[in-house]
Amino acid sequence: MARLIAVSIDCRNEAARQTFEEIVSRRRDYLVTKGQGTGAADMLLLELDESRPQQTFSHIRELLNASPDLEVFLTASRTDPQMLLEAFRLGVKEFLPQPLTRQEVEPALARFEERFTGRGSGAEMQPGRVVSVIGARGGVGASTVATNLATSVQHARQHESVALMDLDMHGGDLGLFLDLHVAQGLKHLAKDISRLDETIVRSSLAQHASGLHLLASGYEGFDEAEPSAGSTMRVIGLLRSMHRHVFVDCGHVLESAVKEALDCSDQIIVVTTLSLPAIRRTKRLLEALGAAQYPAGKVLLVVNRYVNDQKDLLNETEDLLGLRMAGLIPNDYGTAKEALDHGKPLTIMASRTTIGQWYLRGTDQLIGEKAAVNGTPSGKERSKSASFFGRYLPSFGPETKGKPSVV
Ligand SMILES: Nc1ncnc2c1ncn2[C@@H]1O[C@H](COP(=O)(O)OP(=O)(O)OP(=O)(O)O)[C@@H](O)[C@H]1O
Ligand SMILES: [Mg+2]
Repeated sequence: MARLIAVSIDCRNEAARQTFEEIVSRRRDYLVTKGQGTGAADMLLLELDESRPQQTFSHIRELLNASPDLEVFLTASRTDPQMLLEAFRLGVKEFLPQPLTRQEVEPALARFEERFTGRGSGAEMQPGRVVSVIGARGGVGASTVATNLATSVQHARQHESVALMDLDMHGGDLGLFLDLHVAQGLKHLAKDISRLDETIVRSSLAQHASGLHLLASGYEGFDEAEPSAGSTMRVIGLLRSMHRHVFVDCGHVLESAVKEALDCSDQIIVVTTLSLPAIRRTKRLLEALGAAQYPAGKVLLVVNRYVNDQKDLLNETEDLLGLRMAGLIPNDYGTAKEALDHGKPLTIMASRTTIGQWYLRGTDQLIGEKAAVNGTPSGKERSKSASFFGRYLPSFGPETKGKPSVV
């Protein structure tokens, strides 16, 4: 390691403090700093004040605002998923349950070292941009859209890394769209949130010939436990730390894991069709998304399977929903089905067709960085209150009812 790692400990539990200090002191490159304050510490072991957790959280917020490179290890005697969720959202890197054991602390330090070493070589790597795709109802084409937006970006930016995550927990099938056979996916990762790190996530990714990395769902939709609270957000956080672009197929059910994904996305693409049931569901979905108070421009609506003689219906739908469509994807069932049957994206198998061209030419306009600049703060600037989970937090942003806007 290039330099010593400065460790600060803010822990009232004497046994926890001693165990941590003992383990850290035995490692060659660590220096436990004495006295109060984190100073120029690289790592802080912080104990949660279990009677006033919000105080600890605001302390963490202040610390990370002042020192974004500081890594906070949180320790507490109880493991509450809601608390873990909030802690990881704030940027806590590791959670160590009390009593502290060598078996828990050593791997956490190893993960820290990997990140610490990577920091120097990774030269100010920006967190990746997350685009979530959600269907207004089943079968509207959410998976086709998510897959082809991802492969289109990978095609246009071959030197940039792109990940596609299948968050459909009712039979996610993105492996079929890319002809990739994946043994383990999100279901496996979500089993133990405390063990999640880049190495484990990386080992669960399958690489497509285009370069794209797929994280499969693994959920079949039969009586399975959902991902534990916080795990989706954590997985996406890790994916965005490893990839410049992350696309998430959210299926069409607005459940907790999907809400987590939407909260931590820079852009949300709602896919619909101009059928009456789909339009009705779109209205309901947009109302539900309105409750999350996302910034203007974060939610975009696209019509899939559009045919030109639907112009009047399109205008009426836009009036009803109070927003303009951000994209009209042409209808071509034969080509879409053939691509799926061959396990090939439209952008590769049918790059000369109208639909293939739509993805290759339209993607950047739809979800390019410009969209983020116009409407969506990214990374650390994202408003904490603009979220489904924001309602559990004390401060609320201004009401943004009324017409959602699009870029
Ligand atoms: N632009 C299009 N034109 C015609 N057919 C399309 C188009 N896009 C997708 N399809 C077809 O629509 C069907 C459903 O697509 P897809 O699986 O992507 O939908 P989905 O919303 O993910 O469905 P599910 O709810 O089952 O996950 C597939 O047969 C696909 O080939
Ligand atoms: Mg799907």
